[in-house]
Amino acid sequence: MADYILGIESSCDDTSAAVLRDGFLLSNVIASQQVHKDFGGVVPELASRAHEQNIVPVVSQALDKAGIKASDLTAIAFTRGPGLLGSLLVGTSFAKAMGIALDIPIIMVNHLQGHILAGFVDQEGKENHHPAFPYLCLLVSGGNSQIVRVDSPLEYTILGQTIDDAVGEAFDKCSKMMGLGYPGGPVIDRLAKEGDPKRFQFAKPHIPGLDYSFSGVKTSLLYFVRDEIAKDPDFIEKNKEDLCASFQKVLIDILMDKLIKAARQTGIKEVTIGGGVSANSGLRARVEAEGKKRGWNTYLPEFKFTTDNAAMIAVAGWFRYKAGERTPLDVAPVSRIADY
Ligand code: KG4
Repeated sequence: MADYILGIESSCDDTSAAVLRDGFLLSNVIASQQVHKDFGGVVPELASRAHEQNIVPVVSQALDKAGIKASDLTAIAFTRGPGLLGSLLVGTSFAKAMGIALDIPIIMVNHLQGHILAGFVDQEGKENHHPAFPYLCLLVSGGNSQIVRVDSPLEYTILGQTIDDAVGEAFDKCSKMMGLGYPGGPVIDRLAKEGDPKRFQFAKPHIPGLDYSFSGVKTSLLYFVRDEIAKDPDFIEKNKEDLCASFQKVLIDILMDKLIKAARQTGIKEVTIGGGVSANSGLRARVEAEGKKRGWNTYLPEFKFTTDNAAMIAVAGWFRYKAGERTPLDVAPVSRIADY
């Protein structure tokens, strides 16, 4: 008999539900919350409320699209953290209630593991290439920038991580500072395509080992733009494409320097990326180009699996289910998880 896993994701501002049959994706429904647009960032209180409104219709749609009934489900995987506590509470409580009602197990998933395993979302009619273990994942999102060694779907080692801002935060804050809107990553990505990445130079930080830092480069853009605006108030408008291209280039250079170093140090040639910033077209092109040059096998997740989605949570839960993991009903969500 087939195993059906329902995945639930509610860590930030996307309410999502997905269904897998024996590891194959049948449906992946995402309700992105528009309520935050006017605030230049996610408002936690509004996010929780929107999750509460969305969760029932989103799960119903995921079941309908998969062509199954709730009573067909084998287990429910849900995001326990990290994320916004009020948002996580909605998904966690919903998973518990549904698990009790159906008398089936629930399985907690670390959201970051979901991003790292995004390349394992198998779809009918597609080739479904996966990285071989061990592999390196460059995990880049609004809250994290890490290089993770993955030895199996259950074994993770953080080789390096940011000591201050996440790279997605650098994209978002700089976009806001230049008046380009939120979230900043997609806007900067789009404008960068029209600009000259060599026009402006921003210094890279010197951080030992495989750790990252993005706050210095963000501040250097801030000071540079402030000084230029003092000379010409229209400086941003006149140069926004070149500013975005140059800023994006330095962020990608910083990310790639350490990823190359990690591959050299570990001897691992299986390389993947994950998290919201892995949607960046410049980063994707660089990972592929460096991979070709260095003999890596590179795996880029499909765009729809780069930002928050329940398909990746269901996949992470499916691996845990097969390993015999079950989560007790007194589990509580956590906003931070220091390790894997
Ligand atoms: O993984 P994610 O959806 O949420 C968490 O942070 O968990 O990542 C969101 C981040 C934001 O900082 C957003 O600006 C960034 O991903 N992002 C991008 C692109 N699309 C989304 N950054 C650069 N280029 C993009 N195309």
